[in-house]
Amino acid sequence: MSYIEELFGLKAKVAVVTGGTGVLGSDMCKALAKAGASVVILGRRKEVADKLAQEIVQAGGKAMGVSADVLDTKQLVEARKLIIEKFGTIDILVNAAGGNLPGAVVTPDKTFLDLKLDDFKKVVDLNLTGTLLPSQIFGETMVSSKKGNIINISSMTAIRPLTRVVGYGAAKAAISNFTQWLAVEMAKKFGEGFRVNAIAPGFFLTEQNRTLLTNTDGSLTDRGQLIIKGTPFGRFGEPDELCGTLLWLCSDASKFVSGIVVPVDGAFSAYAGV
Ligand SMILES: NC(=O)c1ccc[n+]([C@@H]2O[C@H](COP(=O)([O-])OP(=O)(O)OC[C@H]3O[C@@H](n4cnc5c(N)ncnc54)[C@H](O)[C@@H]3O)[C@@H](O)[C@H]2O)c1
Repeated sequence: MSYIEELFGLKAKVAVVTGGTGVLGSDMCKALAKAGASVVILGRRKEVADKLAQEIVQAGGKAMGVSADVLDTKQLVEARKLIIEKFGTIDILVNAAGGNLPGAVVTPDKTFLDLKLDDFKKVVDLNLTGTLLPSQIFGETMVSSKKGNIINISSMTAIRPLTRVVGYGAAKAAISNFTQWLAVEMAKKFGEGFRVNAIAPGFFLTEQNRTLLTNTDGSLTDRGQLIIKGTPFGRFGEPDELCGTLLWLCSDASKFVSGIVVPVDGAFSAYAGV
């Protein structure tokens, strides 16, 4: 085994990716499989998760699809049972399920007073509770095997609030806080075999934000232009550009790293605009 394989390889590791059928999640699943991990693609639609699993297996990797809603304890417990039956353990959890809702966004023609409380709560619940609950349920398996590695997905809006996305921003800021909190909690209660970190992606064109950032003809919206202007690299990120950071955080290469949130953002978060 080469030094790099020893440091970054994930052979014999089992990695669960929630939101594994999403744009960023599916690239993460493929990268984890290429690094040698057995990958569990967790999504709400089993057939979509199975299709990606099949693709990974055909490319020589190990994978399975599992269906569960990240807000449903019963479904997550059932998913855990199936994962243990197939792969025996859970070493890595990537909490990539997340999203936003129009009612939790304050558009320029509206004000904060129009914000729909129900949608705000749903967005906070999906992103925050949808990270906490899988961490708890899959974390139970990690605690029994005395080691575990959790990677959460935060956002630029956790560092400095972006306009409009008040619910999503609150939830992602809470995810960064939860990442630090859980890193300390797990290390103190269960030892150094437990690590919790997060990635804060910059802007990647996905189904979640496409209509916010691009017009139907593919040109940038005003907001899209502002984002590109605020990104010193002058472009959106490509999903596979998150994977190096993910593999670093999942592997022994980052053995002494816990409780950090890594921006992968073409220098967006470093830029003051002047
Ligand atoms: N695209 C970006 O620029 C960007 C930037 C920062 C953070 N993120 C975050 O990255 C993660 C992945 O987002 P993406 O851009 O790939 O979007 P995406 O919509 O393609 O992926 C999100 C996935 O989460 C799944 N999901 C939603 N609700 C769920 C639930 N209740 N239970 C289980 N799965 C559920 C969706 O089905 C989808 O597969 C999200 O947490 C998102 O907030 C994205």
